[in-house]
Amino acid sequence: MSRSAQLPRKVRVFAPASVSNLGCGFDIFGMALERPGDEVVVRAAEGSGIVSVSVTGDGGRVPMDPARNAAALAVDGVLDRLDSAAGVAIEVRKGIPLASGLGGSAASAVAGAVAADALLGGDLDRTALLECAMIGELKGSGADHADNAAPSLVGGFVLVLPGRPPKMVQLPTPDDLMVAVAHPAMEVETRRARMILGDTIPLSAGVQQWGNAAGMVAGLLSGDWELIARCMCDAVAEPMRAQLVPGFEAVKASAIEAGAVAAGLSGSGPSVLALCRGRAAAEGAAAAMAEAFHDAAGVSSDLVVSRANAEGARILEVT
Ligand code: HSE
Repeated sequence: MSRSAQLPRKVRVFAPASVSNLGCGFDIFGMALERPGDEVVVRAAEGSGIVSVSVTGDGGRVPMDPARNAAALAVDGVLDRLDSAAGVAIEVRKGIPLASGLGGSAASAVAGAVAADALLGGDLDRTALLECAMIGELKGSGADHADNAAPSLVGGFVLVLPGRPPKMVQLPTPDDLMVAVAHPAMEVETRRARMILGDTIPLSAGVQQWGNAAGMVAGLLSGDWELIARCMCDAVAEPMRAQLVPGFEAVKASAIEAGAVAAGLSGSGPSVLALCRGRAAAEGAAAAMAEAFHDAAGVSSDLVVSRANAEGARILEVT
């Protein structure tokens, strides 16, 4: 039977934004949001390999060069793993703002990997798909962290252990957990936000961080909100990155004052996330953060109030 009789011609996939680090879990914790998200369409095309890349919704800023585009790099990783010489055309529809700290490049990469795998009937497992997505992340931020790609792929609150292969562990979350996110009208490049961290940390910061990371896992497993609140604290990255986000300390304090359980930078920022109990608390925290960003830094914010997205990436269309 010919290829076209067996396999689809086009696959469209949605992959959600994510908040990562969650205070104590630099590069190892991330949680998927219900929205926003990126969509990637991968079509069968004449030729071999990636024959075209187009991007919409990005204001013309995302590179269309396959060697620099996160989705294309992930698709290329899938072709490579499947040892496929098929030709594919890629269309990226950006829904996640650029340089926002909401895992936009990871979502594009995840959606690309899942779409290419479905198009080619490859049936790669989740770990293989994650590794393909991480190729795009490596190019974008200069480090192959998977704390955005993992939750965007599998959904929920994810602990991702670094190394080859990476290991994803989905952690339970309390039923009433809601996330409030304020995305201010400013940008932080992850690459730069990683460079300012340097390569070493004081031992005391390490002790605090691994204690809090262990405590966060215990808090999630037991549904202990007090433990979660105490442990969502970053001794490593946030203290150095706060300088990149004008108004950050005031915004974080405003979320707590409005009733959030804990708050901190989302990934490398500038978005700030707050963990809350229930939708009303999350809406209050989101509004307070927007007001604080306006008062402290003179910028407006887009707001997201979301549950943990338990599903992760999903295939929207196969034709
Ligand atoms: N863990 C990464 C970082 C996330 O903090 O650099 C980037 O969004």
